[in-house]
Amino acid sequence: MKSLLLPPLALAGLAAAHFQLLYPKSIGFADDNEGTAPCGGFTPDFSKDVVDFHIGGEALAMLLVHPQGNWLFRVTADQKAQTGWEQIFPIVMQGGLGNFCEPRVTVPDSYVGKKGVVGVVSDTADGLLYQCVTVNFVAGSADPPSVCKNGTVKASFADDAKLSALVGTGGSAPSSPASSPTSSAPSAGTQTTTAAPKATSTGAAATLKAAWSPSGLGWGNAVTVLSMVVLGAAFVI
Ligand SMILES: *[C@@H]1O[C@H](CO)[C@@H](O)[C@H](O)[C@H]1NC(C)=O
Repeated sequence: MKSLLLPPLALAGLAAAHFQLLYPKSIGFADDNEGTAPCGGFTPDFSKDVVDFHIGGEALAMLLVHPQGNWLFRVTADQKAQTGWEQIFPIVMQGGLGNFCEPRVTVPDSYVGKKGVVGVVSDTADGLLYQCVTVNFVAGSADPPSVCKNGTVKASFADDAKLSALVGTGGSAPSSPASSPTSSAPSAGTQTTTAAPKATSTGAAATLKAAWSPSGLGWGNAVTVLSMVVLGAAFVI
């Protein structure tokens, strides 16, 4: 019955892999060091491997080899990746191992023309795991690459204090002048839940993104919109 040995061994190999950033190209992946903040044991080096990151929409594609993980996507213009991390998407929980991709993650306009680091952090049963990309933030948007796909996984928004602590004032950001001049939002009055129906052409992710705001209106509202999208889809079917 030797063949029975194969599946467990294969799984063991996978389990050790934590997660891989498939796109954009990570500055480095080393299984044993992936838990080392802020970049999984690698140091950003802008003399090599700097890719364009389109602030109007760029894909982040991962392969999760844990049964569950919460995703944090963050950016900083600090080329050492130590300070100033900003969250660029709601924290999403992936249930089930396999491919996961957000096809159009956006970055604030203020980053255009700067170099910086895009960070992906996953909160898994093995703790926090880190990958980084060294980027030029450029205007415009990019079509997602073919590697941007979802496996048979479940996704939903999640609250994760460990991940939230890695961004904004909870992170290692320089203290006083907060980097987000959110002049726009006089709180609840500007919530645009009516935006949901017209976003159908770009799919749920865009809708979610539209409904979420780093200024604190929060993912609760986005979850509501997600529900609306799901209901809407069911209704159409
Ligand atoms: C993968 O699933 C997430 C969560 O539902 C969704 O936002 C995203 O658009 C999906 N990605 C692709 C490539 O369909």
